[in-house]
Amino acid sequence: MTEAILLVGGKGTRLRPLTMNTPKPMVPAAGVPFLTHQLARARAAGVEHIVLATSYLAEVFEPYFGDGSDLGLHLEYVTEEEPLGTGGAIRNVASKLHSAPDEPVLIFNGDILTGLDIEALVHTHRTTNADVSLHLTRVEDPRAFGLVPTDDTGRVTAFLEKPQTPEEIVTDQINAGAYVFNRAVIDTIPAGRPVSVERETFPGLLASGAHLQGMVDSTYWLDLGTPQAFVRGSADLVMGRAPSPAVPGRCGDRLVLDTAEVAPDAKLTGGTVIGAGARVEPGARVDGSTVLDGAVIEAGAQVRDSLVGEGARIGARTVLDGAVIGDRARIGADNELRAGARVWCEAEIPAGAIRFSSDQ
Ligand code: GDD
Ligand code: MG
Repeated sequence: MTEAILLVGGKGTRLRPLTMNTPKPMVPAAGVPFLTHQLARARAAGVEHIVLATSYLAEVFEPYFGDGSDLGLHLEYVTEEEPLGTGGAIRNVASKLHSAPDEPVLIFNGDILTGLDIEALVHTHRTTNADVSLHLTRVEDPRAFGLVPTDDTGRVTAFLEKPQTPEEIVTDQINAGAYVFNRAVIDTIPAGRPVSVERETFPGLLASGAHLQGMVDSTYWLDLGTPQAFVRGSADLVMGRAPSPAVPGRCGDRLVLDTAEVAPDAKLTGGTVIGAGARVEPGARVDGSTVLDGAVIEAGAQVRDSLVGEGARIGARTVLDGAVIGDRARIGADNELRAGARVWCEAEIPAGAIRFSSDQ
């Protein structure tokens, strides 16, 4: 039976100023903490034991997921005192693993939404006899990722994390943040200090002649590193483009959680989620957006591709497009916020204060 490590620590999250006491893996996507989707997908692929490697705001995970039995999993938690980096975090949980040295252990970055065929990755790992196997995906602009060129058998020839110069951009294949490690390889990572699996472990393994195998899988893939990506991912889950057994209810154009109140003539489209206890007033339109618990969208407001934090209030006729509104912020009536605007938690913007278009 394959077991897995889920990396959910690190220096924090770019959602942090917006969803104050919620680490990114716990911000709801399609109505449940994002991490639920990764856990449920791993379970569906036959994984039963998962160790969460946490550091930042670690104390919120265990009270919510407990021992994992609700998801049919056995979950354990390990909290780093100081962030140990991706490799250090993996090494730090090794004592919790049950696998024998030659058995495969799955490792997942905790901020990825993907339709990866996990069993196919394990299968590739076994059939190629690799030490480590990596899920690779192709992206238009690889600069924010780990570049992973392979030879014509799929064997990894180099690992270039966040390339800085044009000459380093040798491929559009990137590390998609899901690996299979032979247990014995995990034990070779140095303990007790920060290690980057991308900058130290992978290049070191390649230099020592280890077999790293890449599996290019061009299924749905999204790194939820920015609020905009997070909103996109949540909408794709609701619409069924991103497959997850943990989406509550049937997939469709919208997801309205219990106790939310939506006026009959309000329009909800494009994978919009309305959180518990939230209210959408008459004539409001919400498209491709995530409205968290207890938020209010007042009459005639238009919200597109935006994240509205818990308990936030969007005034009448206000327009949001690609905006992120922090928890409990209040945006007065007749404002217009577009193009990546971010409003911090609890901030207040008076009525008619901000416009992007002409004054008519
Ligand atoms: N426990 C723990 N401790 N987890 C960590 C730490 C740490 O010190 N540092 C990072 N993580 C976790 C993050 O929570 C995240 O789930 C994952 O490791 C990757 O870290 P990110 O900070 O999100 O890295 P990235 O997105 O810039 O790059 C990584 O992901 C790309 C794919 O999205 C790299 O693995 C790239 O090579 C890859 O292409
Ligand atoms: Mg990331």
